[in-house]
This record gives sequence, C-alpha cells and structure tokens, in this order.
Amino acid sequence: MIQILLIGCNGHMGRAITQSCRYNENMTIVAGVDAVVNVDNDYPVYADIFDVKETVDIIIDFSHPKVLNVILKYALEKSLPLVIATTGHSDEQKDMIEKAASSIPILLSANMSLGINLMVDLVKRATKLLHGSFDIEIIEKHHNQKIDAPSGTALLIADAVNSTLAGNEMKYVYDRHSSMQKRTRDEIGIHSIRGGTITGEHTIIFAGNDEMIEIKHTAVSKSLFAEGALKAASFLYDKTPGYYKMQDIFE
Ligand SMILES: NC(=O)c1ccc[n+]([C@@H]2O[C@H](COP(=O)([O-])OP(=O)(O)OC[C@H]3O[C@@H](n4cnc5c(N)ncnc54)[C@H](O)[C@@H]3O)[C@@H](O)[C@H]2O)c1
Repeated sequence: MIQILLIGCNGHMGRAITQSCRYNENMTIVAGVDAVVNVDNDYPVYADIFDVKETVDIIIDFSHPKVLNVILKYALEKSLPLVIATTGHSDEQKDMIEKAASSIPILLSANMSLGINLMVDLVKRATKLLHGSFDIEIIEKHHNQKIDAPSGTALLIADAVNSTLAGNEMKYVYDRHSSMQKRTRDEIGIHSIRGGTITGEHTIIFAGNDEMIEIKHTAVSKSLFAEGALKAASFLYDKTPGYYKMQDIFE
C-alpha cells in the first residue's frame, strides 16, 4: 500500500483525491497538510509539514505556489518522491524544482488528466504539419473562483507548440486591446474566460486560409485530475531521481 502525504488536502482538489483514494486498493492517504486544519478528515492534518509523524512513501501537492519552498525542503530532507500538481509557479521556482529533481523523483504537470495529455500529443503533431501557414490561438475557460490566468494548462499547450519548433520561436500574446496592430505569424494568442462553475475547457485553434481546425478538451468534474494524480503517484513512487512528465506514464 503506497502511503501518501497530501498537501492542500482541504481544498477542492485535496477533497477530490481523498474521495478517489477511498476506492483505491493500492494507495492510502496517511496524513495531510493544509492552512485549514479545523475540518473533519479521514487522516491527521497538520499546518506545518515538519510536524507530520506518519511514515510516508510519496507527497502529492495540490495547494498554492507559495508552499513550494517548504515542500521541497521536506521532500529533499526525507528523500521522498513528489508529485506537483499545483500551478502558477514562477520561473525561479521552476528552476528550483528542476534542481531538486537531480536528488529526488519529481513529476510536475499543470494538468493531470489523460485527455489533456493526449491533446498535447495531438497539438504537437498538428503543429509540425501546420506551422507557418496557420495562425494558432488558445482559449481557456474556468470557474469564477480561479485566481491565476492564463491557466497552467493553456501554457502547457502553448509550450507543446513551441517544443516542436526549433528555437522556441512563438511568442505568447495575452492582451491585444493595448496594441493596435495585426497579429503576426510568430505569436500564439492566449485568452482566458472566467465564469460560473466551469470546471475547465481548453481549445486550440489552427486557423488557415479557408479552413480551421480546433482541438478541444472539456473537463466535467475535478475527479479526472485526482485519478490522474494517483496514477502519477503510483508511477513515480519507486522511480530513481529525475524530472518526470505525465507523458512518461503513457509511454
Ligand atoms: N495539475 C492539475 O491537473 C490541476 C488540476 C486542478 C487544480 N490544480 C491546481 O492545484 C492547486 C489547488 O487547486 P484547488 O482547486 O484545490 O485550490 P483550493 O484553493 O481549493 O485549495 C488549495 C488548498 O491549499 C491550502 N493552502 C493554501 N496555502 C497554504 C499553505 N501556505 N500551507 C498549507 N496549505 C495551504 C488551502 O487552505 C486550500 O485548502 C491550484 O494551483 C490549481 O491550479 C492543478
């Protein structure tokens, strides 16, 4: 039985993972960490990760980027594998994660869903064929409580486009209202819509002359991310140190 320490256990995703784990025969949550501790949980919850007393095999983080430093410190000290699902890290934090991955196994993904990772694969194939003659735009939609924009997944999709092109040549454009000029071929427009209870929708548009291709993924509940994170944890927990991606699981 793989023993999980869940960071952000009392948030939306933390609760979804707790729910998924109840039906998982191979994994169990032995402790949680959250700023909110006055909730009835299936396991002990700590405000400070260094107070955790339980034996842990792996950490799953669905919390807030500001928690990263302390999680990395703890994971490195205890030599624990770490699944990072939290989004919105700064470039400096991403460098810290990459550096830590030389000592412990780390899997970072802005989107834990199987469908989105397939979408990334399709986007790479489409980019190889269409780049140069099609304009690329990404639209993402989320609920009105989401703070960061664009979504980490929209950036993941944009990065997938660039990863197939030599020299990361496309630049990201988030705001067109301030520049009165036509778009150029070397840009990806990224647009964020916020409203209601939308779980998450991502569309990439390849717009050419007289034809348009859209690849779209719709999430209808958060449990797909929870299931993906548990899959990531069972993949990662016995791996050697390194920086892993969701794509590695499917390969
Ligand atoms: N990778 C994915 O597939 C995926 C999917 C959904 C959400 N996310 C990301 O996961 C994160 C959490 O999402 P959510 O919807 O559950 O958010 P949420 O706000 O509902 O939950 C975050 C939890 O983290 C806790 N937290 C905040 N600061 C803390 C601190 N300093 N110490 C301890 N706990 C702290 C909060 O109390 C809260 O319970 C976000 O970054 C979100 O973008 C990733």
